Amino acid sequence: SRTTRRAEDGRLEVGGLAVADAVAEVGTPVYLLDEVDLRARAREFAEAFDGWRVYYAGKSFLCTAVARWVAEEGLGVDVCTGGELAVALRAGVDPAVIGLHGNNKSTAELEAALDAGIGRIIVDSGHEIDRLERLTRERGTTARVMVRVTTGIEAHTHEYIATAHEDQKFGFSIASGQAMAALLRCHESDTLELLGIHSHIGSQIFDTQGFEMAARRILGLHADVRDTTGAEMPEMDLGGGFGIAYTTLDTPSSPAELAGSLRRIVEHECRALGVTVPALSIEPGRAISGPSTMAVYEVGTVKPVVVDQGVERLYVAVDGGMSDNIRPALYAAEYSATVANRASDADPRLGRVVGKHCEGGDILVRDEFLPADIAPGDLVAVPASGAYSRSMASNYNHVPRPPVVSVRDGRLRTLVRRETLDDILALDAG
Ligand code: LLP
Repeated sequence: SRTTRRAEDGRLEVGGLAVADAVAEVGTPVYLLDEVDLRARAREFAEAFDGWRVYYAGKSFLCTAVARWVAEEGLGVDVCTGGELAVALRAGVDPAVIGLHGNNKSTAELEAALDAGIGRIIVDSGHEIDRLERLTRERGTTARVMVRVTTGIEAHTHEYIATAHEDQKFGFSIASGQAMAALLRCHESDTLELLGIHSHIGSQIFDTQGFEMAARRILGLHADVRDTTGAEMPEMDLGGGFGIAYTTLDTPSSPAELAGSLRRIVEHECRALGVTVPALSIEPGRAISGPSTMAVYEVGTVKPVVVDQGVERLYVAVDGGMSDNIRPALYAAEYSATVANRASDADPRLGRVVGKHCEGGDILVRDEFLPADIAPGDLVAVPASGAYSRSMASNYNHVPRPPVVSVRDGRLRTLVRRETLDDILALDAG
């Protein structure tokens, strides 16, 4: 994060506070969130995409305080369940700038969205359109909808987080004509107000060409709808997915670069197609929450393991693992690690940061050089742990989930408290 630095005494600092001092108060493992950094990233998106609406994707990490902060920085919130919706509403986010996603929203979730009067519901299947039409008719109300489409773009990212190729569960495919049919269906409905087309091509994407290609295909369809119905849809959304640096090898584009290239493409295409430029929106999650947070663990054991003739690796086991960050195990995601509580003159050694869970795949950082004298009691910080870590955390092996603590101007604030064994045992009916 932006306020992370190595102090002269060799200790890692964030938000004007030594990580070791923060940990002395709140314990490990912990997600330390740099409020200034998260707000700055949200604001940069809002400024770069000035005139567009930016929805923060809550799935990457959501709690009441963060929902409030991004709203204060001028963003809306994209939610994809009734739970995320409840958090955004509790934070006081204006319902007009909340959008609800999901490929299988329950009736209760749709009802909650209608009750709150949120700005848009992104519909994803014929059954959902039926359900929403029935609910709005029963209530004598209307709903603003966008239609999620599949553009057929093969985003360069892990298969499990690519979402716009044909053979997957999201959206209506453009190629098959299903997208057009769904758009016409919503256009003709007397209780659904069709806002426009929505596309999300995947996540952790660096190459802006994928977004540009998606924008072209959506605008083509947008113009087809105009040609068929005579009406222009007012909006269009390009989803999220903007990649971040997990290791020094990754090189993300800035919000300004992204905005520039997307704006050019959209304006150019609209001119070529003879349509008015619709009100555009995007939904970044990871690019706002990811870099803001470091996970901090305490080292419990260090074990040299011979991995090949003469080659040794230090297995550094910490007090967390795949229950607080499933991403390395699930997507082979790469992270870096650094000793936070001190500097070391010891030689760097090839290491691997592993967790405390009962499987070999319980790896947090697959390959990292760590000081040869790393020892139990040392603190290990894993940067860029703010997106899809706490939000995907589990209680595997009955391990309580770590807290999220923000730091700003040297002061700590608990945003999400540490789960306790009592919390977990309370669910067990005995
Ligand atoms: N909008 C929609 C409709 C989405 O499905 C997503 C992410 C986003 C926006 C935000 O994407 P972002 O800007 O955060 O990349 N758990 C995976 C990522 C799953 C993303 C799901 N959808 C991971 O840890 O990499």
